Amino acid sequence: MKLFDVYPLYNVTPVKAQGAYVWDNKGDKYLDLYGGHGVISIGHTHPTYKAALENQLSNIGFYSNAIQNPLQQELADKLGELSGCGEDYALFLCSSGAEANENAIKVASFYNQKSRVIAFKNGFHGRTSGAVSITDNPKIIAPINAHNPVTILPLNDIELVKAEIAKGDVSSVIVEPIQGVGGLDMPTTEFLQAVRKITQENNVCLILDEVQSGYGRSGKFFAHQHHGVKADIIPMAKGMGNGFPIGGVLIANHIEPWYGMLGTTFGGSHLACAAGIAVLDVMKQENIMQNVADVNAYFQEQVKDLPGLKQVKGQGLMLGLEFNYEVGELRKKLIYDYKIFTGGANNKNLLRILPPLNVTKADIDVFVEALKELL
Ligand SMILES: Cc1ncc(COP(=O)(O)O)c(C=O)c1O
Repeated sequence: MKLFDVYPLYNVTPVKAQGAYVWDNKGDKYLDLYGGHGVISIGHTHPTYKAALENQLSNIGFYSNAIQNPLQQELADKLGELSGCGEDYALFLCSSGAEANENAIKVASFYNQKSRVIAFKNGFHGRTSGAVSITDNPKIIAPINAHNPVTILPLNDIELVKAEIAKGDVSSVIVEPIQGVGGLDMPTTEFLQAVRKITQENNVCLILDEVQSGYGRSGKFFAHQHHGVKADIIPMAKGMGNGFPIGGVLIANHIEPWYGMLGTTFGGSHLACAAGIAVLDVMKQENIMQNVADVNAYFQEQVKDLPGLKQVKGQGLMLGLEFNYEVGELRKKLIYDYKIFTGGANNKNLLRILPPLNVTKADIDVFVEALKELL
């Protein structure tokens, strides 16, 4: 059977990985500054992570959400502590970023019994029905997904948000604290705080999509914590399992659950929890968020005089190098000639950098030397 051909692929076949490095089937070694779309948080095949998953698999890998699974509570406790959100939120576990957002907009709608969602230009929230309908990319919205009540507004225009909320039918406002796929644009602190105020005053839920920007990637546990705002609902996923498919939604305490309100077969399995707990343990033990801040400062310093570089966008280790020209060819040369993985974005001039969060300054040197030769 052939594969349903939806992915344009680079001609590289990774068979082994460790830390910030990946080896292909010919034995060539690559520096991974992309982490498989920002998923690898504590480094490939981290020993603590491997041991946790192997150990869990030899005991019990899965049972449904109909039994007691204390690993879920352990994960919630550790997540609450490291994120600083423990007192104010409850955790619902699922298996992907789109599913986290799907549940987020659903919870909001159950809560306030309204249905329209305000989302933003260049935003990306996933490909399932609700998540894709709030994503600003008509090309990936099928007719069956096109009927949800959604309004897409330009980022950082608070008057437009106020005008839409005044119509009385808005259930939630969803925004990425740092846009990922869209190209690393960010809402301003002033905008986020004003959105928080207007949503609170009107019983509209503020959903901060931390699927990509969460889990330490920005240098704080959640990127919105740089702005002094609190969300009603926080979807997260990518860094949470270091490659194991796990997602989650933090739901503020004023939103009450009821039996059957949400559900999933696979979410919160024993194996998924073991992966999630190992990630949080390593993040704490290795003080990973400090490394993100340190490597960010080093990176900014090293790249600032690169020829043709317009600006460095993003925060922490969720970065975009914006050049004066399209970077498609540069990315190809980096991967095939210099053995370095980087990412692209909707903005064709942007090179996306999403390395494992324990990447070193020496790894950044390898990248900067390659760019100096290439540019
Ligand atoms: C901000 C954001 N939300 C949601 C998603 C969807 O996540 P997933 O691909 O796990 O469904 C992504 C994926 O790139 C994302 O960047």
